[in-house]
Amino acid sequence: MTTKTIQLENLKKEAQECKSCELFKTKNKTVFSDGCETAPIMFIGEAPGKNEDETGIPFIGRAGQLLRKYLFEVNIKQNDFYIANTIKCRPPQNRKPTAKEKTACKHFLDKQIELINPKIIVLVGSTALESFILDKKLTITKARGKIFEIEGRKFIPIFHPSYLLRYHSTQTGSPRDLFKKDLLYIKNLIES
Ligand code: URA
Repeated sequence: MTTKTIQLENLKKEAQECKSCELFKTKNKTVFSDGCETAPIMFIGEAPGKNEDETGIPFIGRAGQLLRKYLFEVNIKQNDFYIANTIKCRPPQNRKPTAKEKTACKHFLDKQIELINPKIIVLVGSTALESFILDKKLTITKARGKIFEIEGRKFIPIFHPSYLLRYHSTQTGSPRDLFKKDLLYIKNLIES
């Protein structure tokens, strides 16, 4: 086991025992991460949903399956990515995480970023975007597909796959088309 693996395991244990917000009372499993610890891409989603809460694996429900389908299509492989969320415990009824919950959980995410040290951080949807890019006027529609450099790290926002579940068209300029183009752009960046 590498030092990094041990540090991530310890961090996961800490998250599993965390009582810094109220969500520990209603969650089943703590949803810490999935994927490869040496990956060049780190995806950051919003929060665990029902399926994630039951399994402890992020992005495993309908939206997650759609994300994984697109990753497969653009040839972003299992070893290329690590996935986490802005918060590790499911908010009841899948409501958005509160500012308090995000603040209480942020140190886990910051430490995950530090340990994974990815080449690119992909902010999946507006909740992740708002957690890192503090510009209230910036919407996901405006920000998606662009690179933001913050404290020496590269962030690229993309649509959340749950948004794509509502739009089935794959025509040029459709949310699904833009989503796939953003993933292809990210794939090219890690190869360059
Ligand atoms: N949506 C997210 O943002 N994260 C998950 O883990 C699942 C769905």
